[in-house]
Amino acid sequence: HRDLLGIGLLARHEILYLLEEAEQWVALNRGAAKHTDRLAGLTVINAFFENSTRTLLSFEIAGKRLGADVVNMHAAQSSVKKGETLIDTAITLNAMRADAIVIRHGSSGAVALIADQVDCPVLNAGDGSHEHPTQALLDALALRHALGDRGQAGDDFTGRTITICGDVLHSRVARSNILCMQALGATVRVCAPPSLMPVGIEGMGVEPFHDFDRALAGTDVVMMLRLQTERMNGQFVPSAREYHHLYGLTARRLAQAAPDALVMHPGPMNRGVEIDSDVADMIDRSIITRQVEMGVAMRMACLDVLTRRRRRVEGWA
Ligand code: CP
Repeated sequence: HRDLLGIGLLARHEILYLLEEAEQWVALNRGAAKHTDRLAGLTVINAFFENSTRTLLSFEIAGKRLGADVVNMHAAQSSVKKGETLIDTAITLNAMRADAIVIRHGSSGAVALIADQVDCPVLNAGDGSHEHPTQALLDALALRHALGDRGQAGDDFTGRTITICGDVLHSRVARSNILCMQALGATVRVCAPPSLMPVGIEGMGVEPFHDFDRALAGTDVVMMLRLQTERMNGQFVPSAREYHHLYGLTARRLAQAAPDALVMHPGPMNRGVEIDSDVADMIDRSIITRQVEMGVAMRMACLDVLTRRRRRVEGWA
């Protein structure tokens, strides 16, 4: 592959390869000197047409720790605001001879459109409700580490059940995680209010639930998603209070999952809506901050692997 556009385009062995590659960066990031010259001389552009805290910062930190020159383009302060088209913006970034472009965009498919216009690798940092591949990869890495700490690590997640609950309809994180976790052998359940469940989601091989208590029964991992009100388009959505009552992860609800079930959330969290603070902050169960930590390592792996051809070293898996 030249680009990283979606988990749906990766084979299982390629996902496993990226997970293995990330381990060296987990180790580097935990040391005192968090720097290598691996990408010295290369330019990475982060072009974000939508807001971000975790993805933008972790891609910036990842590029800098690899020794690349990293520049960020925020659409709100760019000539997009003066009417420049997406294609013209892409051609402009390409003319600056970037060596990798990381893009987040509010429209599904926009990142692939830009990838067609540029000469360098493009990494999808989230496109509409389509995919967020580095999020799913970092989630898999965080889960592996959490299981490893318990002495339960394996190559994959065969035999484990992962329940994803929230606004599945609008969630690129849900889609990428369904594909990634299934590729790694897990059984995936999804849970959402009827108005926020994609029609035909069974076609992805998941078991859909509207009743959160039933979805949680015996699950090994609970991945919570926020309500993406910025993408709502007339869907009926319960009030925050009602949503919390039906779909909020409370300590009482978590007790229905497997006894040592892990709790995940890609962020940003709305505490008291989809997840209670005491659950989000559970030291032995919640791996939310570990997901953020793994985000830097996984993005270092993706930048390293995808720029190998430009550095004239062997390509990836
Ligand atoms: N999980 C995630 O994509 O967070 P940001 O929107 O803050 O990047």
